[in-house]
Amino acid sequence: MRFGVLTVSDRSSKGERADASGPALISAIRDNKWIVEITAVVSDDRDSIRDTLIKWCNLGSIDIILTTGGTGFAPRDVTPEATLQVVERLAPGIPEAMRQASLAITRHAMLSRAVAGIRASTLIINLPGSPKAAVENLNTIAPVLEHAVELIRGDANSENHHTSGNL
Ligand code: MTE
Repeated sequence: MRFGVLTVSDRSSKGERADASGPALISAIRDNKWIVEITAVVSDDRDSIRDTLIKWCNLGSIDIILTTGGTGFAPRDVTPEATLQVVERLAPGIPEAMRQASLAITRHAMLSRAVAGIRASTLIINLPGSPKAAVENLNTIAPVLEHAVELIRGDANSENHHTSGNL
């Protein structure tokens, strides 16, 4: 599976703070033997986020885009709104599962407004901005991502993998 990692942060985009969550996600993706195809850092600007997501989806080679940051309640947190402008179909179960799992770690999980959805053949998933939170959330959903991508691609054998979700 091929990933894009988009860090959304005013400070990191201006070079005022090193991007820590992007690199943390990149190593978590590689730990799963998946491929990081493209990365970028943009400011908390709705148009910049939207345009990057559209551009990456149009490449046709990226299965999953993970965004990190901009999902909270601060005035500049607009990553979910930019994502909703881009996706054609919602995938609400993914943020539901992330918030449920995260609530066992921190009550602040209630303050995540993350969304997920599909544009053409790319699944876009919002993750929180701190490296710890971003990786915790990715670890929650990692076991279902290969099946998700198979389904999006319409792979003929994806039916065989339904039982891989059994607990
Ligand atoms: N989820 C996990 N697993 N661990 C965390 O530390 N932090 C929360 C939440 N989700 C957190 C988490 C906090 S403090 C906030 S404000 C929201 O994610 C949104 O984060 P963001 O504004 O950095 O995107």
